[in-house]
Amino acid sequence: MDMVKFFHMNGGIGDASYSSNSGLQRTGIMKTKGIIEQAISDLCHARSNVNFPKTLVIADLGCSSGPNTLLVGSMVINAVTKTCLEMGLKSPDIQINLNDLPTSDFNIVFIALQEFQNNSTNDQLRDVHGQPACYFTGVPGSFFGRLFPMKSLNFVHFSYSLQWLSQLPELEEINKGNIYLSCTTPESVSRAYFEQFQTDFLGFLRCRSEEMMGGGRMVLTLAGRTTDDPRGEESYHLWRPLAMALQDMVFEGLVEEEKFDSFNLPQYTTSPTEIMNLVKTEGSFVLDPVEIFDVNWKAWKREKNDNDASEVKQLTEDYGVGHGVSKAIRAGIEPLVANHFGEAILDDVFERYGQIITATSSKETQKLVSITISLTRKM
Ligand SMILES: C[S@@+](CC[C@H](N)C(=O)[O-])C[C@H]1O[C@@H](n2cnc3c(N)ncnc32)[C@H](O)[C@@H]1O
Repeated sequence: MDMVKFFHMNGGIGDASYSSNSGLQRTGIMKTKGIIEQAISDLCHARSNVNFPKTLVIADLGCSSGPNTLLVGSMVINAVTKTCLEMGLKSPDIQINLNDLPTSDFNIVFIALQEFQNNSTNDQLRDVHGQPACYFTGVPGSFFGRLFPMKSLNFVHFSYSLQWLSQLPELEEINKGNIYLSCTTPESVSRAYFEQFQTDFLGFLRCRSEEMMGGGRMVLTLAGRTTDDPRGEESYHLWRPLAMALQDMVFEGLVEEEKFDSFNLPQYTTSPTEIMNLVKTEGSFVLDPVEIFDVNWKAWKREKNDNDASEVKQLTEDYGVGHGVSKAIRAGIEPLVANHFGEAILDDVFERYGQIITATSSKETQKLVSITISLTRKM
């Protein structure tokens, strides 16, 4: 599967869109607000004794389409404004580059930008002449390759995009009964996944090291695991119910067995140890302590305008968690499933997926493990 051609979240603003089903990721981003603010503050203070830049160039890579895209932008704008006020400096112009794969729904983002820039609460967007001091650009392409000119970026942000691989690794054995790594996955499959992640992650760091200025900062949040074993339970809570749904459809003759056998997700949930080792191997960045946190699956229902960083206390239980998680996951992987199995199975498989989650998941497993790292480009 050519990820660049096929992969994207569900576009638009409808019921099945990523825009309407990205509460899990929104909650994760809110939990990293302090880390983003600290990185921006460090960046500005580090530049205060040289010529303070007239323009800060920011990139949000794998931004997708929906409220989360502009949430990150507004956090960065607020952090720059606050830091500059504290330092007694005029805020620089801010250029925010929004990147995703070419088939992502950039139109939705551009339409939302209009409202964002006109919103009176975003006063920091305007300079004394009432003109916006913040400029947005769409950058289609894969972040596993170069996207920006040499040494042009001051701050780079990623949330929940870098666990996706550039391609499905070549697998020597069938990952029988699974669609991702589990305790029954053959060792060779697990190794192939890690090697693909390693190649992708090192390539991605190399590209960013060329694009970022010395002292530039990068904050990266991705779905991960706390344990060293990639075949441990933690990474599979979300995917086992989907494998079970597909397996049931094989038994009922609705899905071909070979199709199920050859379906594996092109993603990898890494561990803090693996990340630390890869950053050290590549060598261009200094890494702050790694942060790990959980996002409760109930957060799928977080409202678009809910910017409360606290736990998901305000979320009601009026929907089964399975229904919501199934919608959230469908918004992310529908093109992958449709491309492999055909569109006809979509409603059925995701309905079953939601029911299995509700029936089998427990409070202990209903969480998305997230890893955040904050990096500084060496001078
Ligand atoms: C789960 S969404 C996260 C979106 C947003 N950052 C958030 O936190 O809500 C992952 C995004 O990463 C994008 N993505 C995956 N691989 C990519 C790549 N190689 N280059 C650019 N974007 C990619 C997907 O298209 C998708 O929009």
